Amino acid sequence: MRLRSFGRLGWKASEIGYGMWGMGGWTGSDDAESLKALDRAVERGCNFFDTAFAYGDGHSERLLGETLRRNKGQRLYVATKVPPKNRVWPGKAETPVTDVFPHDYVLEMTRKSRENLGVERLDLQQFHVWSDAWAQDDGWKRAVERLKKDGEVEGFGISVNRWEPTNVLKALETGLVDSVQVVYNIFDQDPEDVLFPACERLRVAVIARVPFDEGSLTGQLRLDSTWPQGDWRNLYFTPDQLRASVARVEDLRPLVPAGSTMSELALRFILHHPTVSTTIPGMRRIPHVEANLAASDTPPLSLAELSALRTHRWQRDWRVP
Ligand SMILES: NC(=O)c1ccc[n+]([C@@H]2O[C@H](COP(=O)([O-])OP(=O)(O)OC[C@H]3O[C@@H](n4cnc5c(N)ncnc54)[C@H](OP(=O)(O)O)[C@@H]3O)[C@@H](O)[C@H]2O)c1
Repeated sequence: MRLRSFGRLGWKASEIGYGMWGMGGWTGSDDAESLKALDRAVERGCNFFDTAFAYGDGHSERLLGETLRRNKGQRLYVATKVPPKNRVWPGKAETPVTDVFPHDYVLEMTRKSRENLGVERLDLQQFHVWSDAWAQDDGWKRAVERLKKDGEVEGFGISVNRWEPTNVLKALETGLVDSVQVVYNIFDQDPEDVLFPACERLRVAVIARVPFDEGSLTGQLRLDSTWPQGDWRNLYFTPDQLRASVARVEDLRPLVPAGSTMSELALRFILHHPTVSTTIPGMRRIPHVEANLAASDTPPLSLAELSALRTHRWQRDWRVP
């Protein structure tokens, strides 16, 4: 597993990290299977884990806490997130920041996450939504400073709204934000334009999330794919959106090298960018862990492969949470 510098925090994070949303509450999750998958990832050299209080009201955090205790002695980086107080995704400029991330609430939720994880200090606490309209607010800034000063968190990051990669630039300029988590994959290439150069300049780490576009870029969705009632993916892959996604993926198929897979190509695309510190595929099963972590052993994409993939950028106007 190759390691990359995690911005100015100076950590050596595995370039393939671990996304822990699914195991917190998507239908079909099985805790025993998830825990085995997490252990396998640690054995294979994954050391960066992204969870959130909102992933099953602390459930995903507790699974990670168990994993940390079973793997004592390994340096595993824990990233979690403060949910918006009003529980509204995404963050909106017109919402007062006091409804979303008031000072005392940020401290309180950090304590709760530390308890779920069973740790004295979080490596990385992140805001789970953001609007740059809140950048100058004093409350969240004092909370971040206090958490860092008291040693409750080492770093602080922001997870930006889906498809709004520049809606964080003012916050980055405050100097308080050590990492940005952003949707970046073969379809969603916009972060390369403005956000990545800003992160380079300010030495802010980049966590590339949703590498498989919630599943389409695994190449395994079909026009008749369905999810049980209540599964979040029904909102992302409405019939029209599923049809459009499957068509885009079919266009990509000729670019998958012989003997490789669409999911491997998806990860290699993300890893080509030097500004990416780590990418965090969501995975709940050992075969997915094995396949995804192996992408770190593959050679870099050629310039010809990259330029072909660049033409698959896709700007969407869907309304999704
Ligand atoms: N607002 C935010 O901050 C936010 C929003 C979204 C995501 N995230 C973070 O980003 C992480 C990744 O995003 P995501 O989990 O939503 O979506 P994703 O990583 O794009 O896709 C996850 C899906 O791909 C499947 N999969 C994984 N590896 C595979 C492989 N090799 N072959 C076939 N299928 C494979 C998973 O199956 P199994 O689960 O069955 O293994 C799951 O259904 C999340 O887990 C979370 O940590 C953060």
